[in-house]
Amino acid sequence: MTFNSILSNLLTKKSPDELIAISKKSELKKTLNVFDLIVIGIGAVVGTGIFTIIGSAIQGGPEGVGAGPAIIVSMVLAVIVCVFSALCYSEIAAMIPVAGSAYTYTYATMGEFMAWMVGWILMLEYAIGNITVASAWTGYFAQFLKGFKHILPAFVTNFPMWLRNDYRYMFAYCDKFGLDPHTQMPFIFDKIPVAINLPAIFIVLILTMILVKGVKESTRFASIMVGVNMFMIVSFILVGAFYVKPENWTPFAPNGFEGIFMGAFIIFFAYIGFDAISTTAEETENPQRDLPIAILGTLIICTILYVLVALVLTGTVPLHHIDTQAPIAHAMRMIGKDWFAGLLSIGALCALTSVILIYQLGTTRILYAMSRDRFLPKSLRLIHKKYRTPHVLTWISGIVVMICALFMDLSISAELCNFGTFTSFIVICIAVLILRKTDPDRPRPFRVPFSPLFPILGILTCGGLMVYSMKYLTTSSLYFPLWLLMGVLIYVGYGYKQKRLEENVKQSRVSKIAKLEKIEK
Ligand code: ALA
Repeated sequence: MTFNSILSNLLTKKSPDELIAISKKSELKKTLNVFDLIVIGIGAVVGTGIFTIIGSAIQGGPEGVGAGPAIIVSMVLAVIVCVFSALCYSEIAAMIPVAGSAYTYTYATMGEFMAWMVGWILMLEYAIGNITVASAWTGYFAQFLKGFKHILPAFVTNFPMWLRNDYRYMFAYCDKFGLDPHTQMPFIFDKIPVAINLPAIFIVLILTMILVKGVKESTRFASIMVGVNMFMIVSFILVGAFYVKPENWTPFAPNGFEGIFMGAFIIFFAYIGFDAISTTAEETENPQRDLPIAILGTLIICTILYVLVALVLTGTVPLHHIDTQAPIAHAMRMIGKDWFAGLLSIGALCALTSVILIYQLGTTRILYAMSRDRFLPKSLRLIHKKYRTPHVLTWISGIVVMICALFMDLSISAELCNFGTFTSFIVICIAVLILRKTDPDRPRPFRVPFSPLFPILGILTCGGLMVYSMKYLTTSSLYFPLWLLMGVLIYVGYGYKQKRLEENVKQSRVSKIAKLEKIEK
């Protein structure tokens, strides 16, 4: 096989017409309207970022400084980065309304190898991102139980730390407070530490079971969660606003630009998820009109809420007292509103639950599309006889998240999720530029304004923020290329061969038909 033929295999594309034809055959019901799409968007976006990670973005962590009250500037920076990609997503989603999101769009523009890599990278965003959300879920679950300390026994309301944290956190905790790890968690044979994030595993297990039962049940469940969490966030803003002390906003940017940029990178996690809207393209009544409105509408609603939450949080709690595990609920406790802190924990639990649910759904959809394209074994996309859902893939993605929650650190998984999302956003901006050149006449119900400037700005801002943060986040900057390398190896070892087998089968079918036609003549 020559280098040229390998290269042409790697660049094999699926034409937009082929993709649209496949989607027209889709048996998925077209029931979603713009309101449903915004609910899905908010359900996927509002979660750990605003309920947990905002604390570290303000305070900083072991590998980077925080923004302080200037977190609102970081938020605006993060949303600017997102807007360019959101516009690009809107253009392609309205033009090729097919399931599979960035993975499918890459197949149409950059060919087979890049499509596989984008699918693989999307797993960082969806599956690894979910580990972060599941771990944060535990933090709020513990807060929620604490609210029952007068009713329930202490071993429930304050259950052991080794049953709600991973072993790395436990060692770091012991180190910080000078404790002997042997007094804080059990050890098997005196050597292997036992620390399990039990609530995270529990919630992923329950949601996996719901997802196996059906998409309809899942989205209905998600919309209830979104309703509760929106109500709680708005209440936090309204109640907290009365306790804001403007002096808490000075110093405004204690760590200058470095803090603001690092804050923008960290809080970017809070905006991730609006792209999940495009995965539902095949189930949307009027995708050409509704997808762009929903994608941009979700971003606008979330930005307004986030900036208001940040203003209230930094205004009510002095900078060094802002909590990094459950900052919003803690802020209410600081102003003596314990009961409201309990209610906020419920809101946070709902928000995080809907993110986990939608992300697990997204993971399965993308894996399903990849398996339909032969990048993954056929046996994985088996459909459940009764529930008509891809139950094997749903269970596999659930189990992977549960296993990773045993040992992965919340901030490392969030950083990896950010790297993965930045990369997929960059790819989408490039895809818009390519399609404008290769397919200029295809109807575009929505067009990115000021193209090519806006897509190029999308590439530069995503790339810039990613490279800037890599300077500081040394651990995840090492894991990210390893993840990419793993993707290349799987493609070379499995996907590439399967695609060629598929081509050979197609080829022999075509020549058999040609032979039969010849004989008939
Ligand atoms: N944006 C999602 C969250 O904050 C990932 O949980």
